[in-house]
Amino acid sequence: MRVGFLQFYPELFHEKQNLDKISLLLQNCNTDLVVLPELCTSGYSFESKEEMDQLSSTGNGRIPDFFNDISVREQTALVAGFLEKDEELFFNSQIFVDPFGNQTIYRKTHLFLNEKDFFAPGNTGFKVAKYKNAFLGLMVCFDWIFPESARTLSVMGADILCHSANLVMPFCQKAMITRSIENHVYAITSNRIGSEKNGDQALTFTGMSQITDPQGNILIQANGTEEVLMKVDIDPEIARYKMITEKNHLFNDRRKEFYDL
Ligand code: ACM
Repeated sequence: MRVGFLQFYPELFHEKQNLDKISLLLQNCNTDLVVLPELCTSGYSFESKEEMDQLSSTGNGRIPDFFNDISVREQTALVAGFLEKDEELFFNSQIFVDPFGNQTIYRKTHLFLNEKDFFAPGNTGFKVAKYKNAFLGLMVCFDWIFPESARTLSVMGADILCHSANLVMPFCQKAMITRSIENHVYAITSNRIGSEKNGDQALTFTGMSQITDPQGNILIQANGTEEVLMKVDIDPEIARYKMITEKNHLFNDRRKEFYDL
C-alpha cells in the first residue's frame, strides 16, 4: 500500500486558493492514501465565529464534496482536516473519503489553546475507517499529547494513525515515534508550514511531516518549509503483530486493574 502526506501552506481565509492548491498538488499522485493537515481548507487562527462561518461546511457540504471528487479523480483515499459546522456548533473535524464513496468524519477530541474559544469539543469519539487491506485511525493535531488517543485507536484495530496537524510546538514529531512503538502501528503526521497572524495571535507551524513504522523508524520526513507530497510503500498487516517478545503481547499484557484512569 502506497501512503503519503501532503505538506503545504494553507492561506487563512482563502478557501478557493487552498482547494486549487490541493487539487494541483495531488494531480497524478499515484497513491492509495494521502493524509492532509488540520483545517487545511480554511487556515487555523480564527478570532471570531463570524470569521469561521463562511469557511465552514457541513459534513455533506461543499468541502466533503471536494475531497470526494479528488478521491475519485486520483483513485486514492484521503484524510484531511476541515472546518465543520453542525447547527450552530463549529468542529475541528477530519474527513476520510475513498473512491468507492465511503466517508467517515472525526471531530477533534482535545482542543488546543484558543480553539477552546470557538470550537465545540469533538463528540464523535475516535474513529477507525477501513480502506483496502488497512484500518485507518483518525486523529487531529493536539490529540497526540494524550497517549490515550493513539492507544484507543490502536486497540480499536488501527494499523495506521492518520494524524492531520497544525503543529506549533517542537515535540510532536518525536512523540509520534513513541506512539508508533508503544502501539506497534504506522503513523502518518501531515503537518502544515508557514505563519499566520490574526489579531493578537501569531503562530508559526513546524512542518517536518513524517511517516513512522511500527518499530519507530522514520520512513520519510519533510523539512520545515517545503510544500511537498511524499509517499512510501508499507505493509499495514505488519502492524497487527503485537508480540513484542515471544512472551509479551502489547495489549493483552496490560494490567488495567493498576491503571487509575
Ligand atoms: C494543534 O492542536 N493545532 C496544536
